[in-house]
Amino acid sequence: MRIRKLSECTINRIAAGEVLERPSSAVKELVENAIDAGSTQIDVVFRGGGKSLIRVTDNGCGMSPDEMVLALERHATSKLSDDDLIQIHTLGFRGEALPSIASVARLSLTSHAQNSGDAFKLEVEAGSPANPAPARLAQGTEIEVRDLFYATPARLKFLKSDRSELAEAVDVVRRLALAHPAIGFSFASEDRQWLSAPQGESAMARVSRIMGAEFMANSVAVQHQAEHIRVEGFVSLPTYSRGNGAQQFAFVNGRPVRDKLVSGAIRGAYADVLPSGRFPSTVLFVDCAITHVDVNVHPAKTEVRFRDASLTRSIIIAAIKRAFAAAGLRPDSAKASATIHSFGHQNWQPPSAGAVQNALDMNMPLAGFAEEAAPAIAMDFPLGMARAQLHDTYIVAQTANGFILVDQHAAHERIVYERLKAERAAQGIQTQPLLIPQVIELDAAAIAQLLSLDEDLASLGLRLEAFGDNAVLVREVPSALARADLTSLLRGLVDVAVEEGEASALPQRINHLLATMACHWSVRAGRSLRADEMNALLREMERTPNAGQCNHGRPTFIALEMKDIERLFGRS
Ligand SMILES: Nc1ncnc2c1ncn2[C@@H]1O[C@H](COP(=O)(O)OP(=O)(O)OP(=O)(O)O)[C@@H](O)[C@H]1O
Ligand SMILES: [Mg+2]
Repeated sequence: MRIRKLSECTINRIAAGEVLERPSSAVKELVENAIDAGSTQIDVVFRGGGKSLIRVTDNGCGMSPDEMVLALERHATSKLSDDDLIQIHTLGFRGEALPSIASVARLSLTSHAQNSGDAFKLEVEAGSPANPAPARLAQGTEIEVRDLFYATPARLKFLKSDRSELAEAVDVVRRLALAHPAIGFSFASEDRQWLSAPQGESAMARVSRIMGAEFMANSVAVQHQAEHIRVEGFVSLPTYSRGNGAQQFAFVNGRPVRDKLVSGAIRGAYADVLPSGRFPSTVLFVDCAITHVDVNVHPAKTEVRFRDASLTRSIIIAAIKRAFAAAGLRPDSAKASATIHSFGHQNWQPPSAGAVQNALDMNMPLAGFAEEAAPAIAMDFPLGMARAQLHDTYIVAQTANGFILVDQHAAHERIVYERLKAERAAQGIQTQPLLIPQVIELDAAAIAQLLSLDEDLASLGLRLEAFGDNAVLVREVPSALARADLTSLLRGLVDVAVEEGEASALPQRINHLLATMACHWSVRAGRSLRADEMNALLREMERTPNAGQCNHGRPTFIALEMKDIERLFGRS
């Protein structure tokens, strides 16, 4: 093979590989262009998972016919005033989004420039534009993208289901709408309006519209400035956490980012108050002097680099901690965690069925707690006998050579999960239709995520359907879940949908869904248990595989041996 120069079209397709990961990336680029054009209203139409049509209409400054042609050329931009890439005030600056999209899709561009009498339309197929012809359009620009990725079949193959692509695209527009409350946004797919936010909202009203009332009720306001950095927004209370980071919205100088420094700082701020594997919901706006942040580090412009990274990190952490302090919350004291550290988590193996049977054969009363429990017999149970419940959350059980402290929710969660798996493997999960179907309110993006898994959920006995714009209808549930809090259950399942998508293997996805169901079905922390209930839980734990950890990987119990206790009291 001889070295040859690639054609302009091939170069653009290669760039498209980086800039356009999936249909939502095209939505992001087009909406960002509309924002940069000074629009006050931006409307998005999205069909067939973004593959049949993406249409973005704005009322911004528009383009003249000459500019329209130029806009489709690679490395042509109206946004860079300096060549050293310091003063970047716009979302775009690379001059490659439109030519990249045009190289992998059929694109048409209609525009009516400000202060000009006419609109023009220009069609591009496989990267080559026709001449602009007169058209009709009120002021602004309308871009239609059809058959996205038809020219790059390899990329087409990697797309997820239409529902998942739709959910991603809604998410992208939600993020941009959060950062630009003055602009009106709408997002429609074939069957419904997923987002509709009016022009001229206050920042607070926009956050509340996009994030929902529940988030507002469970979050605290952040407002902090130090040096040249200002951090504002809302962060959820530690008790309102999720199974993944999908509800973390962060913006740097108005640009939505999925930035490691910012997410690391959020993790740092919650480290004392949230177990690992749980994520807060946040809407955080970090603003700093434009010269202190480099936005040219990622082809899709979703990451940034701060000139003073560690200062920025500590200011974000301080901002969040101050917000908690102002709200009257105190992070765990270091002392408590040091004490907990001295409690080791035993590498405990479930006893053989024979050992449990032996203990039962000895006629051990299950409510043995109240009957001076015959310590010699109790000691035959690896997890001992329940002696007390603390704060309606922890069970204290005396074992042969010490005691254990059991987290009742974590333990029950594991038991239920293993039982559901066994039930599914045997005769299938028992279900129960609801006499009165329940309407559960969720935001539009959450609904789209949830419905992307509706077949999986139906196979587990949970039948859902869309109900209006902001709710789903639950028709049938697994029998055991009949009394569960369906709102929080569905929220948990949305998190699974976000994390797993349809890309992950079916068994992994199903197990994740079952684990989430188990979590919501289990004895909550904060419920008082009778002695026989506590002992039954301990015995179940002994029978259940993996009972040492809950489904989130946290220990279900910690054990302290007599020798540890003696050491704590300085007796040995
Ligand atoms: N909706 C629009 N309204 C007015 N002008 C637009 C619009 N969309 C694009 N343009 C013009 O077309 C140019 C090229 O757009 P394109 O998105 O390809 O590059 P960019 O926005 O400059 O940089 P980036 O590649 O980082 O997005 C823009 O600089 C802008 O001048
Ligand atoms: Mg652009």
